[in-house]
Amino acid sequence: MNKYLSIFSAVLVGGSLVLSGCSAEPSVNLAESYLSVSVSIDPKSDVEPIQPIPFPKALNPQKVALGDRLFHEARLSHDNTIACSSCHDLAKGGTDQAYRSIGINGQMGGINTPTVYNSGLNIRQFWDGRARTLEDQIDGPTQHPAEMGSNWPEIIGKIQKDPSYQKAFSAIYSEGITPTTIKNAIATFERSLLTTNSRFDQYLQGNKQAITDLEQKGYSLFNEYGCVACHQGANVGGNLFQKFGVFGHKDTAPKKYRNPQGKKNEHEGHTHMVKVPSLRMAVLTPPYFHDGSAATLQVAVRMMGQYQLRRQLTEEEITAIVAFLQTLSGQQHGHVL
Ligand code: HEC
Ligand code: HEC
Repeated sequence: MNKYLSIFSAVLVGGSLVLSGCSAEPSVNLAESYLSVSVSIDPKSDVEPIQPIPFPKALNPQKVALGDRLFHEARLSHDNTIACSSCHDLAKGGTDQAYRSIGINGQMGGINTPTVYNSGLNIRQFWDGRARTLEDQIDGPTQHPAEMGSNWPEIIGKIQKDPSYQKAFSAIYSEGITPTTIKNAIATFERSLLTTNSRFDQYLQGNKQAITDLEQKGYSLFNEYGCVACHQGANVGGNLFQKFGVFGHKDTAPKKYRNPQGKKNEHEGHTHMVKVPSLRMAVLTPPYFHDGSAATLQVAVRMMGQYQLRRQLTEEEITAIVAFLQTLSGQQHGHVL
């Protein structure tokens, strides 16, 4: 029997998470929308648990270009100050590398910002998986009062006033500028954000020299110790849900963010399921975890060993695993990330 079976039996989307970031509805109960993911990985088998990132499927280049422009468009926010790229900076691994993102009027979000790179490979969007598609996800940040604080009539009004947008939309979409076409263009751009040809992918494709001995050792540990039970597939994550604290509970939120009574805030407790994050961009996207409580990869990896695998990793093991994680990021639109 597979030694990870006990972990997998818990892999269902269930429970509810009350998250404040990037959401039109602050609380959504996913208990009814069960999505079972059956994965079984035998670390000794020849089948690699991680696959190379595929090259993007043929995407309409006009849609990608329009989506790129909209992704960087601050007029999607109520006061024309915040674009998607304000929080998802493509030069910073697709995040702002901050503990929390700042929305309109200097408001601080409630949860750490995940990367947009490779998000098209995730089975669902958001930490709790409440958006089924990249298109649906866009309703969240545009309308969240602490993020972009706008609404579709307001956004359409502003975009329609710009003749260059009118021209670009009418060249692609017969229906012109609508919430659906805006979302389609942005989501198409996001689907182009695949980080291909990483050193690790080259290694998987047979170039054993593409990674160093230390990185290779890190990958072996990642496999043998069972990190791959949760972080696997092309995105090295993003395809199942798990709780943080399979073995024991950990209050990951720093004390200063707990409420004055010392009670647990809504992100603690760790009975909640979160989407296992992709590790493809991990080296570029500190701090770590949904609450941003781990400042470095070393700390995050140590905590993963302890709370997900009941294993105290040595400093050497952590160094090797972090070295392996450094081989994962790859290239996008010709740039090495
Ligand atoms: C003010 C900061 C902010 C802005 C602006 C913002 N986001 Fe986000 N984004 C976040 C946060 C925080 C999350 C995680 C929220 C959650 O899971 O509850 C997130 C999640 C996402 C995800 C899901 C990734 C995953 O792995 O689950 C995608 C995709 C995304 N945002 C795309 C966008 C797009 C497209 C826009 C512009 C329309 C945008 N974001 C605007 C902060 C922001
Ligand atoms: C039982 C499933 C499981 C196992 C096993 C597991 N992880 Fe995780 N990992 C998660 C979950 C869930 C999160 C998100 C936790 C959170 O944010 O609350 C996570 C987060 C991370 C992060 C932070 C990513 C980010 O962007 O915030 C890193 C790094 C990481 N894991 C590495 C590892 C390593 C290395 C191992 C093996 C030593 C490992 N994980 C084992 C489920 C797992």
